[in-house]
Amino acid sequence: MKKLRTQVGIVGAGPAGLMLSHLLHLEGIESIVIEAQSRSHIEGRVRAGVLEQGTVDLMRSTGLGERMDRESLRHRGVYLSFDGNRHHLDFRELTGKCITVYAQHEVIKDLVRARLEADGQILFDAKHLSVANFESAPVIRYQQDGETYEVACDFIGGCDGFHGVCRPSIPEGVLNVFERTYPFAWLGILAEAAPSSEELVYTYTDRGFALFSMRSPSVTRLYLQCSPNEDIRNWSDDRIWKELLQRLTTKDGWAPNVGPVLQKGITDMRSFVVEPMQHGRLFLAGDAAHIVPPTGAKGMNLAIADVTVLSRAISNFYRNGSEDLLAAYSSTCLRRLWKVQRFSWWMTAMLHHWETQNEFDHRRQLAELDYVTSSRAAMTSLAENYVGLPLE
Ligand code: FAD
Ligand code: DHB
Repeated sequence: MKKLRTQVGIVGAGPAGLMLSHLLHLEGIESIVIEAQSRSHIEGRVRAGVLEQGTVDLMRSTGLGERMDRESLRHRGVYLSFDGNRHHLDFRELTGKCITVYAQHEVIKDLVRARLEADGQILFDAKHLSVANFESAPVIRYQQDGETYEVACDFIGGCDGFHGVCRPSIPEGVLNVFERTYPFAWLGILAEAAPSSEELVYTYTDRGFALFSMRSPSVTRLYLQCSPNEDIRNWSDDRIWKELLQRLTTKDGWAPNVGPVLQKGITDMRSFVVEPMQHGRLFLAGDAAHIVPPTGAKGMNLAIADVTVLSRAISNFYRNGSEDLLAAYSSTCLRRLWKVQRFSWWMTAMLHHWETQNEFDHRRQLAELDYVTSSRAAMTSLAENYVGLPLE
């Protein structure tokens, strides 16, 4: 067995793991990121697309802003569409903040490049990973090219997503799980078509939810609510476009431009939280600790927020020998996380068609949308959550 040593061993090269490694490096703290997949796999994985103002500010202030500033799309707000009409919410005017459309895999590419340029270590294609001894002297073991490795470290960053190994390695009885599943999923496509709206359109119809988003001046990203056990093979490109056009077209004739489908997939929806987000010297961050339904565009931003808190706590430990911020990591993150959970659940509940829904519920949902698009107080509440609540 080959032995390695670092200050912080990080499992997973998603937004959480890579940003943690980047932030620690800026504080002079060494880390090794260990990832199950290849570099090309993580750099091509199509996922989130909306960055909160705080995420954008962090990218810029840590030297990752150059390409983002050149290629991203800055949005003042979003549209909420119902009853065939689009209503604009101007976040900039309501909160002074904007949102930025920049694909998650572009953030990943920027982070990987920054880490490698700084001689950071990201170990790809690591198999059979396990974590141990995190109550005393943590180690991470894995195999690569048939060789077994053991990394000894002071702390482990469990950044390996919802299906990772870090959370299940915590002894039974330590974690409390809070969970909700939803009776629907999202079918998402990337299409080669110029966006026909400058900003996102969240749509409620009695056929179900649909979302118009984008990636660039020539690529549109669209989602439609479908049933959770839907087989993507039953959805031809024609069927997807027909359904999207039915849901998204508004009375004034606005509709998405149609074009070749570049990629498609189905994502299930859940709300999930474990408490606490730490055990001994293992700290869970991002999807490893919590999942939100995607309607509020929060998953990647939460992952970045967690590791911002964690990097400060670890840096405070090395600098001042104090464990206070480390001990407070979970409660600091969870206080904000639960508000983001609430917002994501609320957006999901308001905008989806529930199979149990009756005419009362339908009218109540329409009334809620009417309220949210006509009361300045309600609009401001949605806006301040969407652009991102402050970090403590
Ligand atoms: P991940 O990105 O899942 O990274 C975990 C990493 O760990 C992966 O690279 C994985 O390969 C690796 N790993 C797993 N197990 C192991 C192991 N055993 N050993 C080594 N490595 C391992 N969020 C938003 O903010 N805005 C959005 O608009 C948005 N839209 C979304 C749309 C879709 C369709 C989907 C699927 C998600 C969306 N999200 C959105 C959520 C967002 O993508 C996730 O919340 C985000 O990826 C979480 O980052 P993470 O680093 O915690 O986890
Ligand atoms: C996108 C994804 C979301 O979950 C969301 O709420 C808004 C936009 C996107 O992929 O562009």
